[in-house]
Amino acid sequence: MLSAFLFVAGALAARVHPHQFDSSAYAAEDVIERDFAIIGGGAAGTYAAINLADQNKTFTVVEVTDRLGGNTRTFRDEATGASIDIGVQLHEDIPIVRDFFKRLNSPLAPFQPSDFGNPKYYDFDKKVALPNHTRPNIEGDYVAVLNKYPFLDDLNNLPNNVPKDLLLTWPEFAKKQKLSPASAEAGLLWPATPGNPLDTTALAIFNDGNHVELAEYSGAAVRSATHYNSQIYDNALAELKEHVLLKSSIIAAQRGSSCKDGVRLVANTPSGKKLIKAKQLIIAMPPVLDNTKYFALDQKEHSILSKLSGKHYYAGVMNNTGLEAGVAYTNVGENTPYHVAGLPGVVEIAGAATPGYFFYWYNSVDPQTQEEIEEVTRNTIKWLQSESGVEAVEPTFQDFADYSPLHLSPPTRDIANGWYGKMKGLQGHRNTWYISALFVAGSTQIWNNTRNILPDIIHAAQS
Ligand SMILES: Cc1cc2nc3c(=O)[nH]c(=O)nc-3n(C[C@H](O)[C@H](O)[C@H](O)COP(=O)(O)OP(=O)(O)OC[C@H]3O[C@@H](n4cnc5c(N)ncnc54)[C@H](O)[C@@H]3O)c2cc1C
Ligand SMILES: *[C@@H]1O[C@H](CO)[C@@H](O)[C@H](O)[C@H]1NC(C)=O
Ligand SMILES: *[C@@H]1O[C@H](CO)[C@@H](O)[C@H](O)[C@H]1NC(C)=O
Ligand SMILES: *[C@@H]1O[C@H](CO)[C@@H](O)[C@H](O)[C@H]1NC(C)=O
Ligand SMILES: *[C@@H]1O[C@H](CO)[C@@H](O)[C@H](O)[C@H]1NC(C)=O
Repeated sequence: MLSAFLFVAGALAARVHPHQFDSSAYAAEDVIERDFAIIGGGAAGTYAAINLADQNKTFTVVEVTDRLGGNTRTFRDEATGASIDIGVQLHEDIPIVRDFFKRLNSPLAPFQPSDFGNPKYYDFDKKVALPNHTRPNIEGDYVAVLNKYPFLDDLNNLPNNVPKDLLLTWPEFAKKQKLSPASAEAGLLWPATPGNPLDTTALAIFNDGNHVELAEYSGAAVRSATHYNSQIYDNALAELKEHVLLKSSIIAAQRGSSCKDGVRLVANTPSGKKLIKAKQLIIAMPPVLDNTKYFALDQKEHSILSKLSGKHYYAGVMNNTGLEAGVAYTNVGENTPYHVAGLPGVVEIAGAATPGYFFYWYNSVDPQTQEEIEEVTRNTIKWLQSESGVEAVEPTFQDFADYSPLHLSPPTRDIANGWYGKMKGLQGHRNTWYISALFVAGSTQIWNNTRNILPDIIHAAQS
């Protein structure tokens, strides 16, 4: 009876997952055997792929979109010659950055403050111009905190006993530590920071606005010479394309607990299902549950990864705005704490290097649709047109990007309970490694950390 029951149950299970991890269930060309499987082809995944290629390792990259680059996005229009970076803008001017751009034949140029546009301030919610507003700069007391807590640059180094003050919200921290008004306000002005700044922990602010960011802002920054920061990723794709599965994602996984077991992944691709057999798995997508639930997480992994969530941030490009070239129309709260801009709303509308084009950044606590975002942005542009006394032309929206989930983090109480140490402890667990943004926010540091951990990943594949 019991054995008959087990047999039936087994047969049912087999029918649900019919030999999906067996090579024999696939045509030969649908079985991909490699040293490494890299899931996600943004900053981390592409850097890993190029470095593995240069070490003669085999890999396959599984990327859900139709391109490499992730949050690095350039709107390009061959007809008009437009090239506009709407995501990543700049990198620190250090060897790892120069070497990566050189490796991928993409020329660099020094980043100039004017690349961000000449700021003009408005309260977009209250619809008032603030011609006399100025933005403060970080002062020495901010830098002193960073120097006191050097682990803030990279949360891989966060002690399990996290200093309690760092888990306060920014306003609480600024008051308690008696930060100067300039530092308190400027700490909330790092570019492209999603979510409600007044709810953000001091830990997150300093992790983003860290020594690397300070170095970039003190002038040691570079960008693509042709305002085409995605060129490195386009060139990487051209070089690696036979090892990249675009518009693809993993739908099932089997991961062994010892190195010799390796991993088996089922990928849904435009040319059907593929079986990927790899020695080690490199997670280079945001490891939120929406993405990782297909990887048959064990209890330990689930208890750690299920805590993660990201925030919402959006961008787009338009022309025919009637707005003044070279200006960054910037949203500021006239009477809000630290002059934070209203949410949800347009963060800024910045004149691009290509004349006639502007790009915007948009922040919202809750997810919004492209339609909602473009409507708010269009209304903001119309108001700016009337405010500036220019012709009321109809803006044309040319591109849209959703960067969610951005700035992943567990809840503050989990950080207090040593979440970052536990996350770090998952490296290599069940032949799986995590290299995407978690411990650091910026792509310069993503590349550096990926370079630092690759020897361990390669070593695991050899054992
Ligand atoms: C507007 C904006 C401006 C920024 N400016 C800068 C800057 O000037 N300088 C800087 O250093 N950093 C900047 N950053 C931060 C930078 O973008 C990140 O550091 C970097 O992108 C993180 O790299 P990543 O590989 O972790 O993630 P991403 O680059 O986002 O790559 C993740 C990849 O995983 C893919 N993916 C997601 N889900 C799946 C799935 N289920 N299966 C397969 N693939 C999947 C995504 O499509 C994406 O290609 C900016 C970010 C934003 C949003
Ligand atoms: C990779 O292979 C090439 C060509 O066979 C060889 O020249 C190079 O030295 C190898 N690189 C490494 C790191 O093994
Ligand atoms: C800006 O400053 C100038 C000069 O101090 C002053 O005349 C003007 O009224 C101010 N404008 C606003 C909107 O506050
Ligand atoms: C806006 O861009 C489109 C092409 O994307 C072009 O046809 C149009 O002329 C541009 N409009 C202006 C005002 O530059
Ligand atoms: C790169 O990593 C090394 C080793 O951990 C570290 O000392 C250095 O500060 C990092 N540099 C950057 C820019 O992150």
